[in-house]
Amino acid sequence: MILVTGGAGFIGGNFVLDWLANPAAEGIVNIDKLTYAGNLATLKSLENDGRHVFVHGDIGDYDLALSLLKKYSIRAVLNFAAESHVDRSIHGPGDFIQTNVLGTFNLLEAVRAYWSDLSDLAKKEFRFLHVSTDEVYGSLSPTDPAFSETHPYEPNSPYSASKAASDHLVRAWHHTYDLPVITTNCSNNYGPYHFPEKLIPLVILNALAGKPLPIYGDGQQIRDWLYVKDHCSAIRRVLEAGQLGETYNVGGWNEKPNLDVVHVICGVLDQLRPKAGGIDAENKYASQITYVKDRPGHDRRYAIDATKLECELGWKPAETFETGIQKTVQWYLDNQEWTEGVLSGSYRDWVKKQYN
Ligand code: NAD
Ligand code: TYD
Repeated sequence: MILVTGGAGFIGGNFVLDWLANPAAEGIVNIDKLTYAGNLATLKSLENDGRHVFVHGDIGDYDLALSLLKKYSIRAVLNFAAESHVDRSIHGPGDFIQTNVLGTFNLLEAVRAYWSDLSDLAKKEFRFLHVSTDEVYGSLSPTDPAFSETHPYEPNSPYSASKAASDHLVRAWHHTYDLPVITTNCSNNYGPYHFPEKLIPLVILNALAGKPLPIYGDGQQIRDWLYVKDHCSAIRRVLEAGQLGETYNVGGWNEKPNLDVVHVICGVLDQLRPKAGGIDAENKYASQITYVKDRPGHDRRYAIDATKLECELGWKPAETFETGIQKTVQWYLDNQEWTEGVLSGSYRDWVKKQYN
């Protein structure tokens, strides 16, 4: 079996569902702390699937991790678990250090203890795949080339600094202990099961609820958007054929300013769920756009150069931003039960704190 951490979150959850959609796939042990971002409703379709073993636990729990590795003879660990929201890291960085840095450290140590006792063949075949972000590279100017794997680390937020620290630990465990690791650094994901604190799901749900669509600062910050299922296929490919000790950037070649992203979402909603009362400008979703205070230390531009992954491993994203966003908006329209489940009291508290 493989061990997935953070598999009740957005990307981990999509990965688990995608992986197990293949009837021939190995089973998954899924360890997740079920923070505000973890949601078992995402995994509902696996309730009666014996190939999925869910364990409510913390990656920082060395004994738990080691016992699961042994009990299920794990042949690969995929580390998705993290605190992942930049704005929350600004309000309270402590949890980010705890999970992203110390949690990764404890997980690496458990994996090292397990891996050291494997047979030579099992040792050779074992993989620790660490899922990281393009945000560790810092911010680009409008004319800079996109981030390659050799771009220096210049993290600017507590979130990206904690992820950078975890990447360094993973790298060091390879160089010092020969642990068979691979790291992926990907751009902003979007798609089904995305928690509505992040830009795209927040805008879809606020638009449908008739609420303001908050744009930080001038809305000209650029992100490089990757459809989550393309990220999952990249991870599967890296796990299968990636070189040990290497890092791979994963991106969708979809650089867009935030304001454009919000306008595209509004346009798709105007088509799929037009507001009653005709097509006047005030009846369009874009009329709900509202400029709000900028994020402190807001990175201006991220862009991923995914050439290494494409040339060495033959991976390519299947979706353009236009096709991916259409599917995403449709998914939110079709899955109101899921979204109602996550719009709980604690979510409302967060919205109040952040957008007051
Ligand atoms: P998410 O916040 O949606 O999910 C994180 C999951 O990890 C949740 O289910 C949560 O309960 C779990 N978790 C948190 N702390 C834990 C702990 N100590 N032990 C066990 N489980 C814990 O995050 P996501 O968007 O799915 O991101 C997954 C990974 O991908 C993260 O490492 C993130 O840094 C990285 N990443 C995300 C994006 C993006 O756009 N979402 C982009 C690049 C990289
Ligand atoms: P986000 O989805 O939080 O991802 P990240 O900060 O990891 O890139 O934000 C994406 C971009 O959208 C980022 O530039 C911040 C901006 N943003 C807004 O303008 N308004 C919002 O309400 C949110 C949540 C984000």
